[in-house]
Amino acid sequence: MSDSVTLKWGDKTFELPLIEGTEGEKAIDISKLRQTTGLVTMDPGFANTGSCQSAITFMDGEKGILRYRGYPIEQLAEHSTFREVAYLLIHGKLPTAKEITRFSVLLNDHSLVHEDMRTFFESFPRQSHPMGILSSMVNALKSFYPYLEGAEEEIESTVTRLISKVRTLAAMSYKISRGHLVVYPRPDLSYCENFLNMMFDSPVRPYEIDPDIVQALSVFLILHADHEQNCSTSAVRVVGSGRVNLYAAISAGIAALWGPLHGGANQKVIEMLTDIANGRMTVKEAVHRAKDKEDPFRLMGFGHRVYKTYDPRTRIMKKMYDKLLNKLRIKDPLLNIAAELEEIALKDPYFIDYHLYPNVDFYSGMVLRTIGIPTSMFTVMFAIGRLPGWIAQWKESMDDPNWRISRPRQVYTGSALRDYVPMEDRGGEHKTIPLRQSA
Ligand code: ACO
Repeated sequence: MSDSVTLKWGDKTFELPLIEGTEGEKAIDISKLRQTTGLVTMDPGFANTGSCQSAITFMDGEKGILRYRGYPIEQLAEHSTFREVAYLLIHGKLPTAKEITRFSVLLNDHSLVHEDMRTFFESFPRQSHPMGILSSMVNALKSFYPYLEGAEEEIESTVTRLISKVRTLAAMSYKISRGHLVVYPRPDLSYCENFLNMMFDSPVRPYEIDPDIVQALSVFLILHADHEQNCSTSAVRVVGSGRVNLYAAISAGIAALWGPLHGGANQKVIEMLTDIANGRMTVKEAVHRAKDKEDPFRLMGFGHRVYKTYDPRTRIMKKMYDKLLNKLRIKDPLLNIAAELEEIALKDPYFIDYHLYPNVDFYSGMVLRTIGIPTSMFTVMFAIGRLPGWIAQWKESMDDPNWRISRPRQVYTGSALRDYVPMEDRGGEHKTIPLRQSA
């Protein structure tokens, strides 16, 4: 097969090279397109645009495949831990026993946050959304820890610091929002155990760590750990391309994740299911509204830019959720509603024709509810999970010899050249601004 594509424009032809990935997917290399043809491409939402070559995550949206560094998500969810997956994503290989011990020691050493950061927390209005707080606090880390950057071991320190502190910051924000005492990290607990303990331990009710809940949290975080060039990861890469510090790039990623069409969907799913449970809408009405093009309502937790079949993460999440409910002997009133919604939607021609299947967010909120995480913290949990992926993608972009600042082009559709018009010639009523208001 030819390794280039021929572009014909008028009587001219141009050869555009093809790039092939390790799994056989092909891309037309248009990096010299404007230089050779004077043309740019137009692709709103970048649905057909590859922004980089990456060796981190492989997805096949038609077959429902997701792999981190070549390892199937199903195997990682079953056999690995979040800590190990974080290492895998960032370093490109599974750690040896010695490497994981060193990584754990670093995670532990960096788990405290500067006490002055507590004043920041206390200054946010009580009703502030935790995602806004987290994004600001991560950006603020640069002011508290300004010195490490550059050399490989310094980057490793910054990276581990971030992974460890984001977890502490998230739990701290929850405790402070409730007006409770902050619980500090403990060196004897694992990454997930520590998070649960910092969230739920209290002087009047010590938190009992349940291995099934720890396992559920670990799987939740593994499933969210990377997803190639999605909205928030692209934000991290784009912001990072200006050679901004890692904290600022991650803070941008957190802000992008907050949106209801992206990571914010996990919160919206629960709100939608709760609306149905409370009788504000029936399942049939929800499906009907989602199909109505005059209504902006969408079935939250359904549809995906890449997956045109069942999201492989949804299957694992649902299986784990069923196991958790069984183990804890809990009945979730939202489960039947979700199951009914899924059944109706999957048989509906609209959802079939548009290839809309439940995505990871459809069941992830229910897992988090069962663990005891409040709805407003759902997207923060997603951010904790996605952090190793963002870091790995940022690191890869920094090491890429061909990396350039992200700066897309446009097709201008505004006014053609025109001359400036003085105020008195613009028509309309003239109003004199009182002197004291004029700047
Ligand atoms: N409910 C109803 N209709 C939908 C839905 C949905 N959940 N998702 C897509 N559609 C329809 C759109 O109305 C559109 O129809 P049209 O072409 O007739 O206008 C068509 O499907 C394509 O939708 P787009 O928004 O163009 O698809 P895109 O790939 O850009 O968006 C997205 C994907 C944002 C995830 C979308 O499916 C959606 O809004 N889903 C609901 C929110 C959600 O669950 N987000 C989480 C995604 S996973 C993640 O980020 C972790």
